[in-house]
Order: sequence, then structure tokens, then C-alpha cells
Amino acid sequence: MDKKVGVKILGTGSYFPKKILTNADLEKTVDTSDEWISARTGIRERRISENNEPTSELAYKASIDALESAGIKSEQIDLILVATTTPDMLCPSTACFLQMKLGLTFAPAFDISAACSGFIYGISVAKAFIESGLYKTILLVGAEELSKVTDWTDRSTCVLFGDGAGAMILSVSQENDDVLSVVLGANGLYSDLLFLPAGGTAHPATTETVNKKMHTIKMRGREVFKVAVSKMALAAVKALELSGKKRKDIKLFIPHQANMRIIEAVAKKMGIPMDKIFVNIHKTGNISTATTITALDEAVKTGKLQKGDLVELVAFGGGFTWGATVIRV
Ligand SMILES: CC(C)(COP(=O)(O)OP(=O)(O)OC[C@H]1O[C@@H](n2cnc3c(N)ncnc32)[C@H](O)[C@@H]1OP(=O)(O)O)[C@@H](O)C(=O)NCCC(=O)NCCS
Repeated sequence: MDKKVGVKILGTGSYFPKKILTNADLEKTVDTSDEWISARTGIRERRISENNEPTSELAYKASIDALESAGIKSEQIDLILVATTTPDMLCPSTACFLQMKLGLTFAPAFDISAACSGFIYGISVAKAFIESGLYKTILLVGAEELSKVTDWTDRSTCVLFGDGAGAMILSVSQENDDVLSVVLGANGLYSDLLFLPAGGTAHPATTETVNKKMHTIKMRGREVFKVAVSKMALAAVKALELSGKKRKDIKLFIPHQANMRIIEAVAKKMGIPMDKIFVNIHKTGNISTATTITALDEAVKTGKLQKGDLVELVAFGGGFTWGATVIRV
């Protein structure tokens, strides 16, 4: 019988739009304050994409960065996956736009929709494809432009979100297995706590849906908060168990960057000191599927993670969905 193949992570990359929107800027447009936003969320600023800069453009720039870090040519990619909640269009997929931008006309491409947990879901899809032998080298991207589905008059949501993209290249390996474990979960019963009501088939876009701003994010923040803490902690503990590793073996925990208080509560629940938790929410805000991968890329680029280190990613999002993975960088 053939030896089971493993997954090697060849490289990561990221890209953020240039424009910065600070809490002070928001103070001028909605009834809020830097003090409230910083204290309740940990967010100080977020990046905002241009009107002529769709999600696939951020995905493209993050992919180029990841290809450089992996030291491979784009032609070596044989599958493209884009996790996103804010696609360029409902159809075609953002992955197809990215494929076109990369000039890879033969690599199959599709989107993964699992809200903020999309990148973790993507790691599991990539791992399964590689282990099955169907594809050898996969480009996995988490890219979002939440600024374009935000109601900028709703202070309870508009202070939270931002734009950005991260990418990872995963490849087949006979020696390594850099994805030690993945745990996924979902519960559609919570679908009305965090959702984007219109623009799909339940509420096709009409003048009325636009006037009622039904194409923007709706959220019951306090209820989301509670479930997020419990599901993220559960998933992180389970993924650690499945990996066969202990907390002390993990160099860095990278939780979904949704709210500093959620991050602190998850760390407390898991008994992990804050110096082992990576945080960059103050400068990014919540960028949904892109949070864990852009944070991972920053940790690598700033030397917080070295080659061979173990890291655990954990995320939670609309659906609800959640997931955690232990990987080796
Ligand atoms: C959204 C969130 C920051 C709100 O914080 P909170 O402590 O729960 O605050 P509440 O919603 O209870 O609101 C408290 C008060 O602040 C007010 N408030 C809400 N947003 C505000 C803002 N941007 N600025 C000032 N005041 C604000 C509310 O109107 C409320 O006022 P009231 O007491 O007079 O009614 C928090 O619930 C949260 O982060 N939830 C999780 C959201 C999330 O992460 N979603 C994505 C998951 S992937």
C-alpha cells in the first residue's frame, strides 16, 4: 500500500488596501467615540478598499506575495480556493476572477462560503484534496471587503469591520505533514444573529431592499459574543487534542480577530497567557475570513514564528460556523 502523503505549507502572503479609517474618522460620521470603540473592541483603525478595487484584487495581491514567499511560479498551482463572504459578484466566483488575474486558465477555481471561519474550512478542503491525490499544489486565499456590505450609519456594526486578504500555498509532501489537525463546526439555527439578508434568492435585490439597507450586515452583537467565546474555545481544545500536542508545544495561538474582549475571554477559558496570543485587531478590525491568515503572515514576517513552529488558528463566524487547526509553519 502507498505511504499516506502529507501537506506541506510552502508560504504565506497578505495584502491590505492603502486607505486607513481611524476611530477619530468614524467619530465625525456616527455617534461614537474612539474611547468606546477601543474599550469595547480593541479596534483603533481598519483598512478600506477603493470602489474600483474588488475582493479579487486584494486576493490577487496577497497571492503574489504568497507565491514569492513559497518560491514557486504561479503555473505550479493546480487548484485555486477563495474563502470569502464578500465576493466580487454572486457569479462567477471570486476564485475565477483571481484565476484570470493570475493567468492560470487551466487551474480549477471555486469559492468557499463559511463566513469568518472560511479560511479554516479552506485548510481542511485543501488538505483533503492533497491527501486524496486529486491536486498537488493549492492556492488558498481568505479575502474580504466588508466595508462594501456595511451600513455606515449603524454604529453597532460599522466600527467593527475592515478589508484585507491573506494567502497560503499548500503542497503535497512525502515527508512533512504541516496540517496536524482540523476541527470544523456549524449550526444554522443561529443564522439570524449575524447575516446579510438581501441580494440572494431569499430577498432578491430590489429598490425596497436597498432602501431598507438589507444588503448590509445585520448583527445581534451581544448574543454573537457569547456563542463565539464558547465555540472558539471548544474547537481550539479539540483541535489541540487531535493534533496530539500540548498547549506548551504551541508557539502562538492566532484567534479570529473579531473583538479584543472575545480574544481575551477565549484565552482565559483555555488557560493560555496573552503573550502566546497573536493580536493585530487594533490595526485591521474584523476582516472575516482574512483575519487568521493575515495574522499568521504578519507573525511569520515579523519573526514571531520561525520555520518549524507550531501554531493554532481558531475562528468563528456567521452561520454560525467555527473551526480550529494546528499547523506547522
Ligand atoms: C458589537 C459589540 C462590540 C457591542 O458591545 P457590547 O458591549 O455588547 O455593547 P451593547 O451592544 O450591549 O451596547 C451597549 C451600549 O453601547 C451602545 N453602542 C453600540 N455601538 C456603539 C458605538 N459604536 N459607539 C458608542 N456606543 C455604542 C449601544 O447603543 C448601547 O447603548 P445603550 O446601553 O444606551 O442601549 C459586541 O457585542 C461584540 O463585539 N459582539 C461580537 C460581534 C462580533 O464579533 N461579530 C463578528 C463575529 S465573527
